[in-house]
Amino acid sequence: MANSKYEYVKSFEIEDEIVPPNIIVVRVDGRDFRRFSQVHEFEKPNDKKALELMNTCAVAVLEQFPDIIFSYGYSDEYSFVLKKGTKFYQRRASKILSLLVSFFTSIYVTKWKELFPQKDLRYAPSFKSRITCCATLEVLQAYLAWRQNECHLNNQYDTCLWHLINSGKSVKEAEEMLKGSQKQDRNELLYQSFNINYKKDIQAIFRQGTCVLKAEVEDIVKFKDDGYPVKRPRKKVITVHSENIASRRFWNDQLCLLKELGQFTEDLNKPKTEYLKSFQYESRLIPSTWVVIRIDGCHFHRFSEVNEFEKPNDAQALNLMNSCAVGILEEFKDIVFSYGVSDEYSFVLKKESQLYERHASNIVSSVVSIFSSMYTVKWKEFFPDKELKQPPYFDGRAVCYPSSEILRDYLSWRQVDCHINNQYNTCFWMLVKSGKSKSDAQNDLKGTQAQDKNKLLDRLSNVTDYYNTLPLMFRQGSSVYWEKEEKKMVNNEEGSVGKIRKIVVVKYCNIIDPSFWEEHPEILNEKINCCRVHTLHCSNSYTL
Ligand code: GTP
Ligand code: MG
Repeated sequence: MANSKYEYVKSFEIEDEIVPPNIIVVRVDGRDFRRFSQVHEFEKPNDKKALELMNTCAVAVLEQFPDIIFSYGYSDEYSFVLKKGTKFYQRRASKILSLLVSFFTSIYVTKWKELFPQKDLRYAPSFKSRITCCATLEVLQAYLAWRQNECHLNNQYDTCLWHLINSGKSVKEAEEMLKGSQKQDRNELLYQSFNINYKKDIQAIFRQGTCVLKAEVEDIVKFKDDGYPVKRPRKKVITVHSENIASRRFWNDQLCLLKELGQFTEDLNKPKTEYLKSFQYESRLIPSTWVVIRIDGCHFHRFSEVNEFEKPNDAQALNLMNSCAVGILEEFKDIVFSYGVSDEYSFVLKKESQLYERHASNIVSSVVSIFSSMYTVKWKEFFPDKELKQPPYFDGRAVCYPSSEILRDYLSWRQVDCHINNQYNTCFWMLVKSGKSKSDAQNDLKGTQAQDKNKLLDRLSNVTDYYNTLPLMFRQGSSVYWEKEEKKMVNNEEGSVGKIRKIVVVKYCNIIDPSFWEEHPEILNEKINCCRVHTLHCSNSYTL
Protein backbone atom coordinates (compact mmCIF):
# COMPACT_ATOMS: atom_id res chain seq x y z
CA MET A 1 0.00 0.00 0.00
CA ALA A 2 1.37 3.39 -0.94
CA ASN A 3 2.14 5.51 2.04
CA SER A 4 3.19 8.55 0.08
CA LYS A 5 -0.04 10.51 0.48
CA TYR A 6 0.78 11.28 4.09
CA GLU A 7 4.54 11.08 4.03
CA TYR A 8 4.87 14.80 3.34
CA VAL A 9 4.32 15.34 7.10
CA LYS A 10 7.89 14.15 7.64
CA SER A 11 9.10 17.46 6.22
CA PHE A 12 7.95 19.24 9.40
CA GLU A 13 10.63 17.49 11.43
CA ILE A 14 13.52 19.86 11.92
CA GLU A 15 17.24 19.18 11.93
CA ASP A 16 18.76 19.56 15.35
CA GLU A 17 22.30 18.33 14.84
CA ILE A 18 24.89 19.85 17.16
CA VAL A 19 27.76 20.51 14.82
CA PRO A 20 31.38 19.93 15.79
CA PRO A 21 33.56 21.19 17.40
CA ASN A 22 30.88 21.81 20.05
CA ILE A 23 31.23 19.54 23.04
CA ILE A 24 27.87 18.04 23.99
CA VAL A 25 26.81 18.07 27.64
CA VAL A 26 23.51 16.54 28.74
CA ARG A 27 22.16 17.48 32.16
CA VAL A 28 19.59 15.21 33.75
CA ASP A 29 17.64 16.75 36.61
CA GLY A 30 14.92 15.31 38.91
CA ARG A 31 11.34 16.46 38.24
CA ASP A 32 9.82 17.78 41.43
CA PHE A 33 12.30 15.87 43.59
CA ARG A 34 11.34 18.05 46.54
CA ARG A 35 8.06 16.16 46.66
CA PHE A 36 9.63 12.83 45.68
CA SER A 37 12.19 13.08 48.50
CA GLN A 38 9.49 14.02 51.01
CA VAL A 39 7.18 11.18 50.04
CA HIS A 40 10.11 8.73 50.22
CA GLU A 41 11.41 10.22 53.45
CA PHE A 42 14.92 11.01 52.27
CA GLU A 43 17.24 12.18 55.04
CA LYS A 44 17.85 15.90 55.21
CA PRO A 45 19.82 17.73 53.99
CA ASN A 46 21.50 14.78 52.25
CA ASP A 47 20.44 11.20 51.91
CA LYS A 48 23.54 9.17 51.15
CA LYS A 49 21.60 6.23 49.74
CA ALA A 50 19.68 8.51 47.39
CA LEU A 51 22.96 10.00 46.17
CA GLU A 52 24.44 6.55 45.74
CA LEU A 53 21.42 5.60 43.65
CA MET A 54 22.07 8.62 41.42
CA ASN A 55 25.73 7.55 41.16
CA THR A 56 24.70 4.00 40.27
CA CYS A 57 22.60 5.39 37.43
CA ALA A 58 25.52 7.49 36.19
CA VAL A 59 27.82 4.46 36.24
CA ALA A 60 25.23 2.49 34.23
CA VAL A 61 25.00 5.34 31.69
CA LEU A 62 28.78 5.42 31.21
CA GLU A 63 28.92 1.64 30.91
CA GLN A 64 26.09 1.58 28.39
CA PHE A 65 27.24 4.38 26.09
CA PRO A 66 30.90 4.29 25.00
CA ASP A 67 30.91 7.93 23.86
CA ILE A 68 30.07 9.33 27.29
CA ILE A 69 33.32 9.66 29.12
CA PHE A 70 32.78 12.04 32.01
CA SER A 71 29.94 12.96 34.32
CA TYR A 72 29.44 15.07 37.37
CA GLY A 73 26.47 15.06 39.71
CA TYR A 74 25.09 16.16 43.04
CA SER A 75 21.65 16.18 44.65
CA ASP A 76 19.14 15.13 41.94
CA GLU A 77 21.17 16.15 38.91
CA TYR A 78 23.90 14.67 36.70
CA SER A 79 25.75 16.20 33.76
CA PHE A 80 27.14 13.87 31.10
CA VAL A 81 29.93 14.90 28.73
CA LEU A 82 30.34 13.22 25.35
CA LYS A 83 33.72 12.86 23.68
CA LYS A 84 34.71 15.64 21.33
CA GLY A 85 34.08 14.21 17.87
CA THR A 86 31.25 11.91 18.87
CA LYS A 87 28.91 10.58 16.18
CA PHE A 88 26.47 9.34 18.82
CA TYR A 89 23.06 9.30 17.15
CA GLN A 90 24.68 11.57 14.59
CA ARG A 91 24.76 14.34 17.21
CA ARG A 92 20.98 14.96 17.10
CA ALA A 93 20.09 16.94 20.22
CA SER A 94 16.62 15.58 20.81
CA LYS A 95 17.65 11.94 20.36
CA ILE A 96 20.59 12.30 22.70
CA LEU A 97 18.85 14.16 25.52
CA SER A 98 15.79 11.91 25.40
CA LEU A 99 17.44 8.51 25.32
CA LEU A 100 19.85 9.48 28.09
CA VAL A 101 17.12 10.68 30.41
CA SER A 102 15.05 7.64 29.56
CA PHE A 103 17.86 5.17 30.28
CA PHE A 104 18.79 7.03 33.47
CA THR A 105 15.18 6.90 34.69
CA SER A 106 14.77 3.19 33.96
CA ILE A 107 17.93 2.40 35.89
CA TYR A 108 16.77 4.59 38.79
CA VAL A 109 13.56 2.58 39.06
CA THR A 110 15.27 -0.79 38.50
CA LYS A 111 17.96 -0.19 41.11
CA TRP A 112 15.67 1.40 43.70
CA LYS A 113 15.21 -1.82 45.70
CA GLU A 114 18.96 -2.43 45.86
CA LEU A 115 19.54 0.89 47.59
CA PHE A 116 16.26 1.06 49.51
CA PRO A 117 15.33 -2.55 50.34
CA GLN A 118 12.98 -1.37 53.09
CA LYS A 119 11.19 1.32 51.12
CA ASP A 120 8.56 0.87 48.45
CA LEU A 121 8.66 3.14 45.46
CA ARG A 122 5.40 5.02 46.00
CA TYR A 123 5.13 6.52 42.52
CA ALA A 124 7.11 6.64 39.30
CA PRO A 125 10.02 9.11 39.61
CA SER A 126 10.99 11.15 36.60
CA PHE A 127 13.69 13.48 35.34
CA LYS A 128 14.03 16.16 32.72
CA SER A 129 17.08 16.79 30.59
CA ARG A 130 18.66 19.43 28.42
CA ILE A 131 21.70 19.91 26.28
CA THR A 132 24.40 22.51 26.70
CA CYS A 133 26.81 23.05 23.83
CA CYS A 134 30.33 24.01 24.83
CA ALA A 135 32.14 25.60 21.91
CA THR A 136 35.55 25.06 23.46
CA LEU A 137 37.11 23.08 26.30
CA GLU A 138 37.42 26.33 28.22
CA VAL A 139 33.62 26.68 28.10
CA LEU A 140 33.22 23.12 29.37
CA GLN A 141 35.60 23.96 32.20
CA ALA A 142 33.44 26.98 33.08
CA TYR A 143 30.31 24.79 32.95
CA LEU A 144 31.80 22.26 35.37
CA ALA A 145 32.99 25.01 37.73
CA TRP A 146 29.46 26.45 37.65
CA ARG A 147 27.78 23.17 38.55
CA GLN A 148 30.26 22.37 41.31
CA ASN A 149 29.88 25.85 42.75
CA GLU A 150 26.09 25.34 42.79
CA CYS A 151 26.64 22.05 44.61
CA HIS A 152 28.80 23.80 47.18
CA LEU A 153 26.44 26.73 47.74
CA ASN A 154 23.33 24.57 47.99
CA ASN A 155 24.91 22.04 50.27
CA GLN A 156 26.39 24.62 52.61
CA TYR A 157 23.05 26.46 52.82
CA ASP A 158 21.05 23.26 53.37
CA THR A 159 23.49 21.99 55.98
CA CYS A 160 23.02 25.23 57.97
CA LEU A 161 19.26 25.24 57.44
CA TRP A 162 18.73 21.69 58.69
CA HIS A 163 21.04 22.07 61.66
CA LEU A 164 19.09 25.15 62.69
CA ILE A 165 15.77 23.34 62.24
CA ASN A 166 16.99 20.29 64.14
CA SER A 167 18.10 22.56 66.96
CA GLY A 168 14.54 23.79 67.42
CA LYS A 169 14.09 26.67 64.96
CA SER A 170 11.08 26.77 62.66
CA VAL A 171 11.74 26.60 58.89
CA LYS A 172 10.81 30.27 58.63
CA GLU A 173 13.12 31.32 61.45
CA ALA A 174 16.00 29.31 60.01
CA GLU A 175 15.46 30.80 56.55
CA GLU A 176 15.33 34.28 58.05
CA MET A 177 18.63 33.71 59.84
CA LEU A 178 20.35 32.64 56.64
CA LYS A 179 18.95 35.42 54.46
CA GLY A 180 21.77 37.36 52.82
CA SER A 181 24.47 35.29 54.50
CA GLN A 182 27.77 34.77 52.67
CA LYS A 183 29.83 31.57 52.45
CA GLN A 184 32.09 32.70 55.26
CA ASP A 185 29.13 33.55 57.55
CA ARG A 186 27.68 30.11 57.04
CA ASN A 187 30.96 28.38 57.84
CA GLU A 188 31.16 30.49 61.01
CA LEU A 189 27.60 29.60 61.98
CA LEU A 190 28.25 25.89 61.57
CA TYR A 191 31.44 26.13 63.59
CA GLN A 192 30.20 28.42 66.36
CA SER A 193 26.74 26.94 66.88
CA PHE A 194 27.21 23.31 65.98
CA ASN A 195 30.94 22.71 66.30
CA ILE A 196 31.09 21.64 62.67
CA ASN A 197 34.13 22.28 60.54
CA TYR A 198 32.42 22.29 57.14
CA LYS A 199 35.43 21.11 55.14
CA LYS A 200 36.57 18.49 57.62
CA ASP A 201 33.35 17.15 59.05
CA ILE A 202 31.02 17.05 56.05
CA GLN A 203 31.55 14.10 53.72
CA ALA A 204 33.08 14.71 50.29
CA ILE A 205 30.08 13.19 48.45
CA PHE A 206 27.87 15.96 49.95
CA ARG A 207 30.30 18.89 49.63
CA GLN A 208 31.95 18.11 46.31
CA GLY A 209 29.45 16.01 44.40
CA THR A 210 30.58 12.94 42.49
CA CYS A 211 32.45 12.38 39.24
CA VAL A 212 31.92 9.21 37.26
CA LEU A 213 34.41 8.89 34.44
CA LYS A 214 36.27 6.51 32.20
CA ALA A 215 39.81 5.70 33.21
CA GLU A 216 42.32 3.85 31.08
CA VAL A 217 43.44 0.63 32.71
CA GLU A 218 45.47 -2.28 31.39
CA ASP A 219 44.23 -5.83 31.70
CA ILE A 220 46.63 -8.76 31.51
CA VAL A 221 45.06 -10.98 28.86
CA LYS A 222 47.65 -13.77 28.95
CA PHE A 223 51.26 -14.55 29.72
CA LYS A 224 53.81 -15.33 26.99
CA ASP A 225 56.00 -18.43 27.18
CA ASP A 226 58.75 -16.37 28.79
CA GLY A 227 56.31 -15.28 31.49
CA TYR A 228 55.98 -11.77 30.07
CA PRO A 229 52.41 -10.44 30.44
CA VAL A 230 50.39 -9.41 27.37
CA LYS A 231 48.36 -6.35 28.27
CA ARG A 232 45.37 -4.79 26.61
CA PRO A 233 44.16 -1.25 27.39
CA ARG A 234 40.54 -0.99 28.51
CA LYS A 235 38.30 1.81 29.64
CA LYS A 236 37.00 1.32 33.13
CA VAL A 237 34.26 3.35 34.77
CA ILE A 238 35.42 4.83 38.07
CA THR A 239 33.82 7.07 40.71
CA VAL A 240 35.83 9.87 42.33
CA HIS A 241 35.35 12.97 44.43
CA SER A 242 37.40 16.09 43.92
CA GLU A 243 37.57 19.49 45.57
CA ASN A 244 37.78 21.27 42.23
CA ILE A 245 36.79 19.42 39.08
CA ALA A 246 37.64 22.47 36.98
CA SER A 247 41.26 22.47 38.14
CA ARG A 248 44.18 21.41 35.97
CA ARG A 249 45.37 19.11 38.73
CA PHE A 250 42.22 17.04 38.69
CA TRP A 251 41.44 17.07 34.97
CA ASN A 252 44.89 16.71 33.45
CA ASP A 253 45.58 13.68 35.61
CA GLN A 254 42.89 11.66 33.83
CA LEU A 255 44.40 10.15 30.68
CA CYS A 256 41.04 9.40 29.13
CA LEU A 257 39.82 12.97 29.52
CA LEU A 258 43.02 14.34 28.00
CA LYS A 259 42.67 12.01 25.05
CA GLU A 260 38.98 12.49 24.33
CA LEU A 261 38.49 16.13 25.34
CA GLY A 262 41.92 17.78 25.74
CA GLN A 263 43.73 19.45 28.60
CA PHE A 264 42.86 22.44 30.74
CA THR A 265 45.50 25.08 30.16
CA GLU A 266 44.62 27.29 33.11
CA ASP A 267 43.03 26.87 36.48
CA LEU A 268 39.57 28.20 37.06
CA ASN A 269 38.79 29.00 40.63
CA LYS A 270 35.74 31.20 40.23
CA PRO A 271 32.66 30.62 38.03
CA LYS A 272 32.71 32.64 34.82
CA THR A 273 29.51 34.65 34.73
CA GLU A 274 29.80 35.54 31.03
CA TYR A 275 28.79 32.01 30.00
CA LEU A 276 25.82 31.66 32.34
CA LYS A 277 23.33 32.97 29.82
CA SER A 278 24.37 30.43 27.22
CA PHE A 279 24.22 27.63 29.83
CA GLN A 280 20.67 28.63 30.71
CA TYR A 281 19.37 29.15 27.17
CA GLU A 282 16.44 26.98 26.06
CA SER A 283 14.72 27.04 22.69
CA ARG A 284 10.94 27.21 22.42
CA LEU A 285 8.52 25.48 20.09
CA ILE A 286 6.64 27.64 17.58
CA PRO A 287 3.57 29.22 19.23
CA SER A 288 0.00 28.28 18.20
CA THR A 289 1.01 25.04 16.53
CA TRP A 290 0.05 21.49 17.39
CA VAL A 291 3.01 19.80 19.01
CA VAL A 292 3.49 16.07 18.61
CA ILE A 293 5.92 14.35 20.94
CA ARG A 294 6.79 11.01 19.38
CA ILE A 295 8.65 8.50 21.47
CA ASP A 296 10.10 5.27 20.15
CA GLY A 297 11.65 2.31 21.98
CA CYS A 298 15.43 2.08 21.57
CA HIS A 299 16.58 -1.28 20.23
CA PHE A 300 13.18 -2.80 20.93
CA HIS A 301 13.88 -5.45 18.35
CA ARG A 302 16.43 -6.82 20.80
CA PHE A 303 14.41 -5.85 23.89
CA SER A 304 11.40 -7.83 22.67
CA GLU A 305 13.57 -10.87 21.97
CA VAL A 306 15.34 -10.78 25.31
CA ASN A 307 12.00 -10.44 27.09
CA GLU A 308 10.41 -13.13 24.91
CA PHE A 309 7.54 -11.11 23.49
CA GLU A 310 5.09 -13.00 21.34
CA LYS A 311 5.60 -12.47 17.63
CA PRO A 312 4.56 -10.43 15.77
CA ASN A 313 2.34 -8.84 18.41
CA ASP A 314 2.45 -9.30 22.14
CA ALA A 315 -0.90 -8.13 23.51
CA GLN A 316 0.46 -7.66 27.03
CA ALA A 317 3.42 -5.61 25.79
CA LEU A 318 1.02 -3.39 23.86
CA ASN A 319 -1.32 -3.12 26.87
CA LEU A 320 1.67 -2.02 28.95
CA MET A 321 2.50 0.70 26.40
CA ASN A 322 -1.16 1.79 26.47
CA SER A 323 -1.26 1.92 30.24
CA CYS A 324 1.80 4.21 30.25
CA ALA A 325 0.14 6.42 27.64
CA VAL A 326 -2.93 6.73 29.90
CA GLY A 327 -0.57 7.81 32.70
CA ILE A 328 0.95 10.47 30.45
CA LEU A 329 -2.47 11.93 29.56
CA GLU A 330 -3.39 12.02 33.24
CA GLU A 331 -0.14 13.78 34.10
CA PHE A 332 -0.21 16.38 31.31
CA LYS A 333 -3.69 17.81 30.89
CA ASP A 334 -2.60 19.67 27.74
CA ILE A 335 -2.10 16.39 25.88
CA VAL A 336 -5.40 15.88 24.11
CA PHE A 337 -4.79 12.74 22.11
CA SER A 338 -2.25 10.01 21.66
CA TYR A 339 -1.73 7.19 19.24
CA GLY A 340 0.49 4.17 19.73
CA VAL A 341 1.70 1.22 17.74
CA SER A 342 4.47 -1.29 18.37
CA ASP A 343 7.19 0.45 20.44
CA GLU A 344 6.16 4.00 19.57
CA TYR A 345 3.67 6.53 20.87
CA SER A 346 2.71 9.97 19.58
CA PHE A 347 1.33 12.52 22.05
CA VAL A 348 -0.55 15.55 20.76
CA LEU A 349 -0.20 18.72 22.78
CA LYS A 350 -2.97 21.25 22.18
CA LYS A 351 -2.12 24.24 20.06
CA GLU A 352 -2.33 26.89 22.75
CA SER A 353 -0.45 24.84 25.37
CA GLN A 354 2.03 26.75 27.50
CA LEU A 355 3.47 23.59 29.08
CA TYR A 356 7.00 24.43 30.30
CA GLU A 357 6.68 27.71 28.38
CA ARG A 358 6.93 25.50 25.29
CA HIS A 359 10.60 24.67 26.01
CA ALA A 360 11.22 21.73 23.71
CA SER A 361 13.77 19.83 25.78
CA ASN A 362 11.71 20.10 28.96
CA ILE A 363 8.58 18.80 27.23
CA VAL A 364 10.25 15.94 25.35
CA SER A 365 12.44 14.79 28.23
CA SER A 366 9.62 14.87 30.80
CA VAL A 367 7.29 12.83 28.61
CA VAL A 368 9.94 10.29 27.71
CA SER A 369 11.16 10.00 31.31
CA ILE A 370 7.73 9.49 32.87
CA PHE A 371 6.87 6.99 30.16
CA SER A 372 10.08 4.98 30.82
CA SER A 373 9.55 5.18 34.55
CA MET A 374 5.98 3.91 34.31
CA TYR A 375 6.96 1.18 31.85
CA THR A 376 9.53 -0.11 34.35
CA VAL A 377 7.26 0.28 37.40
CA LYS A 378 4.24 -1.32 35.72
CA TRP A 379 6.16 -4.20 34.13
CA LYS A 380 5.24 -6.64 36.91
CA GLU A 381 1.56 -5.75 36.61
CA PHE A 382 1.53 -6.86 32.96
CA PHE A 383 4.14 -9.61 33.16
CA PRO A 384 3.78 -11.09 36.66
CA ASP A 385 5.79 -14.16 35.66
CA LYS A 386 8.60 -12.43 33.78
CA GLU A 387 11.60 -10.59 35.14
CA LEU A 388 12.41 -7.42 33.23
CA LYS A 389 15.70 -8.53 31.67
CA GLN A 390 17.10 -5.17 30.58
CA PRO A 391 16.18 -1.53 31.14
CA PRO A 392 13.69 -0.27 28.56
CA TYR A 393 14.47 3.12 27.09
CA PHE A 394 12.98 5.41 24.49
CA ASP A 395 14.02 8.33 22.36
CA GLY A 396 11.77 11.29 21.74
CA ARG A 397 11.28 14.32 19.54
CA ALA A 398 8.84 17.21 19.27
CA VAL A 399 7.43 18.31 15.94
CA CYS A 400 5.15 21.31 15.33
CA TYR A 401 2.22 21.07 12.89
CA PRO A 402 0.58 24.33 11.86
CA SER A 403 -3.00 23.10 11.24
CA SER A 404 -5.32 20.37 12.42
CA GLU A 405 -5.51 19.02 8.86
CA ILE A 406 -1.77 18.47 8.81
CA LEU A 407 -1.88 17.05 12.33
CA ARG A 408 -4.49 14.55 11.23
CA ASP A 409 -2.41 13.65 8.20
CA TYR A 410 0.45 13.01 10.63
CA LEU A 411 -1.74 10.62 12.63
CA SER A 412 -2.94 8.97 9.42
CA TRP A 413 0.69 8.49 8.40
CA ARG A 414 1.35 6.61 11.62
CA GLN A 415 -1.79 4.49 11.25
CA VAL A 416 -1.01 3.56 7.66
CA ASP A 417 2.45 2.58 8.85
CA CYS A 418 0.89 0.43 11.56
CA HIS A 419 -1.22 -1.35 8.97
CA ILE A 420 1.63 -1.92 6.52
CA ASN A 421 4.00 -3.22 9.19
CA ASN A 422 1.42 -5.38 10.87
CA GLN A 423 0.29 -7.02 7.68
CA TYR A 424 3.87 -7.70 6.65
CA ASN A 425 4.87 -9.01 10.08
CA THR A 426 1.80 -11.25 10.33
CA CYS A 427 2.69 -12.84 6.97
CA PHE A 428 6.37 -13.08 7.84
CA TRP A 429 5.84 -14.90 11.13
CA MET A 430 3.17 -17.15 9.71
CA LEU A 431 5.59 -18.23 6.98
CA VAL A 432 8.33 -18.80 9.57
CA LYS A 433 5.96 -20.76 11.80
CA SER A 434 5.00 -22.89 8.76
CA GLY A 435 8.62 -23.98 8.50
CA LYS A 436 10.27 -21.40 6.20
CA SER A 437 13.60 -19.84 7.06
CA LYS A 438 13.58 -16.12 7.81
CA SER A 439 15.36 -15.28 4.55
CA ASP A 440 12.98 -17.47 2.50
CA ALA A 441 10.02 -15.76 4.17
CA GLN A 442 11.53 -12.39 3.32
CA ASN A 443 12.02 -13.42 -0.32
CA ASP A 444 8.46 -14.72 -0.58
CA LEU A 445 7.11 -11.37 0.54
CA LYS A 446 9.34 -9.21 -1.66
CA GLY A 447 7.23 -7.05 -3.98
CA THR A 448 3.87 -8.43 -2.78
CA GLN A 449 0.85 -6.14 -2.60
CA ALA A 450 -1.75 -5.99 0.19
CA GLN A 451 -4.09 -8.32 -1.67
CA ASP A 452 -1.35 -10.92 -2.23
CA LYS A 453 -0.58 -10.84 1.47
CA ASN A 454 -4.20 -11.30 2.43
CA LYS A 455 -4.48 -14.28 0.07
CA LEU A 456 -1.30 -15.79 1.49
CA LEU A 457 -2.67 -15.44 5.03
CA ASP A 458 -5.98 -17.04 4.06
CA ARG A 459 -4.14 -19.96 2.45
CA LEU A 460 -1.73 -20.53 5.35
CA SER A 461 -4.38 -20.22 8.04
CA ASN A 462 -7.24 -21.91 6.19
CA VAL A 463 -9.45 -19.05 7.33
CA THR A 464 -11.26 -16.74 4.93
CA ASP A 465 -10.39 -13.09 5.43
CA TYR A 466 -7.94 -14.11 8.16
CA TYR A 467 -6.34 -10.70 8.51
CA ASN A 468 -9.61 -9.14 9.64
CA THR A 469 -10.01 -11.73 12.38
CA LEU A 470 -6.95 -10.33 14.15
CA PRO A 471 -7.59 -8.11 17.17
CA LEU A 472 -8.30 -4.49 16.31
CA MET A 473 -5.45 -3.36 18.58
CA PHE A 474 -2.95 -5.10 16.27
CA ARG A 475 -4.51 -3.82 13.06
CA GLN A 476 -5.36 -0.24 14.00
CA GLY A 477 -3.04 0.65 16.85
CA SER A 478 -4.31 2.31 20.03
CA SER A 479 -5.87 5.72 20.42
CA VAL A 480 -5.87 7.23 23.89
CA TYR A 481 -7.96 10.28 24.75
CA TRP A 482 -10.33 11.85 27.28
CA GLU A 483 -13.98 10.88 27.14
CA LYS A 484 -16.97 11.97 29.19
CA GLU A 485 -18.49 9.28 31.31
CA GLU A 486 -21.73 9.47 33.25
CA LYS A 487 -21.38 7.86 36.63
CA LYS A 488 -24.46 6.96 38.67
CA MET A 489 -23.67 8.29 42.12
CA VAL A 490 -26.78 7.58 44.27
CA ASN A 491 -30.21 6.08 43.80
CA ASN A 492 -32.73 7.75 46.09
CA GLU A 493 -36.49 8.41 46.07
CA GLU A 494 -36.17 11.26 43.63
CA GLY A 495 -34.36 8.96 41.23
CA SER A 496 -30.74 8.45 40.38
CA VAL A 497 -28.21 11.26 40.49
CA GLY A 498 -25.58 11.15 37.82
CA LYS A 499 -22.27 12.87 37.64
CA ILE A 500 -20.34 13.49 34.48
CA ARG A 501 -16.63 13.01 34.74
CA LYS A 502 -13.85 12.74 32.24
CA ILE A 503 -11.76 9.61 31.99
CA VAL A 504 -8.92 8.57 29.74
CA VAL A 505 -9.93 5.78 27.38
CA VAL A 506 -7.98 3.40 25.14
CA LYS A 507 -9.80 2.64 21.89
CA TYR A 508 -8.90 0.97 18.63
CA CYS A 509 -10.32 3.25 15.97
CA ASN A 510 -9.81 4.16 12.38
CA ILE A 511 -8.37 7.65 12.82
CA ILE A 512 -7.75 8.09 9.09
CA ASP A 513 -11.47 8.09 8.44
CA PRO A 514 -12.89 11.61 9.00
CA SER A 515 -15.89 10.11 10.79
CA PHE A 516 -13.78 9.52 13.92
CA TRP A 517 -13.01 13.23 14.16
CA GLU A 518 -16.58 14.19 13.32
CA GLU A 519 -17.78 12.04 16.19
CA HIS A 520 -15.17 13.48 18.58
CA PRO A 521 -14.95 17.18 17.71
CA GLU A 522 -13.95 18.01 21.29
CA ILE A 523 -10.56 16.27 20.98
CA LEU A 524 -9.07 18.83 18.64
CA ASN A 525 -11.71 21.37 19.59
CA GLU A 526 -12.76 21.56 15.97
CA LYS A 527 -15.98 22.85 14.52
CA ILE A 528 -17.79 20.15 12.60
CA ASN A 529 -17.63 22.06 9.33
CA CYS A 530 -13.81 21.89 9.47
CA CYS A 531 -14.13 18.15 9.37
CA ARG A 532 -16.50 18.37 6.43
CA VAL A 533 -13.91 20.30 4.45
CA HIS A 534 -11.43 17.64 5.35
CA THR A 535 -13.77 14.88 4.25
CA LEU A 536 -13.45 16.17 0.71
CA HIS A 537 -9.72 16.53 0.99
CA CYS A 538 -9.47 12.98 2.34
CA SER A 539 -11.94 11.31 0.01
CA ASN A 540 -9.49 8.62 -0.91
CA SER A 541 -9.55 6.96 2.51
CA TYR A 542 -7.77 3.78 3.47
CA THR A 543 -9.44 0.62 4.59
CA LEU A 544 -7.88 -0.75 7.72
P1 GTP B 1 15.41 1.71 17.10
O1 GTP B 1 14.05 2.29 17.37
O2 GTP B 1 16.07 2.33 15.91
O3 GTP B 1 16.29 1.69 18.29
O4 GTP B 1 15.21 0.16 16.66
P2 GTP B 1 14.17 -0.90 17.20
O5 GTP B 1 14.91 -2.18 17.39
O6 GTP B 1 13.42 -0.38 18.37
O7 GTP B 1 13.18 -1.12 15.97
P3 GTP B 1 11.92 -0.27 15.48
O8 GTP B 1 11.60 0.84 16.42
O9 GTP B 1 12.14 0.08 14.06
O10 GTP B 1 10.76 -1.35 15.52
C1 GTP B 1 10.19 -1.82 16.72
C2 GTP B 1 10.59 -3.25 16.96
O11 GTP B 1 10.14 -3.64 18.25
C3 GTP B 1 9.95 -4.25 16.02
O12 GTP B 1 10.68 -4.42 14.86
C4 GTP B 1 9.90 -5.52 16.85
O13 GTP B 1 11.12 -6.21 16.69
C5 GTP B 1 9.80 -5.01 18.27
N1 GTP B 1 8.41 -5.14 18.79
C6 GTP B 1 7.53 -4.15 19.05
N2 GTP B 1 6.35 -4.64 19.51
C7 GTP B 1 6.50 -5.98 19.54
C8 GTP B 1 5.64 -7.06 19.92
O14 GTP B 1 4.49 -6.89 20.33
N3 GTP B 1 6.14 -8.33 19.81
C9 GTP B 1 7.40 -8.55 19.36
N4 GTP B 1 7.84 -9.82 19.26
N5 GTP B 1 8.23 -7.56 19.00
C10 GTP B 1 7.79 -6.29 19.08
MG1 MG C 1 12.22 1.36 18.24
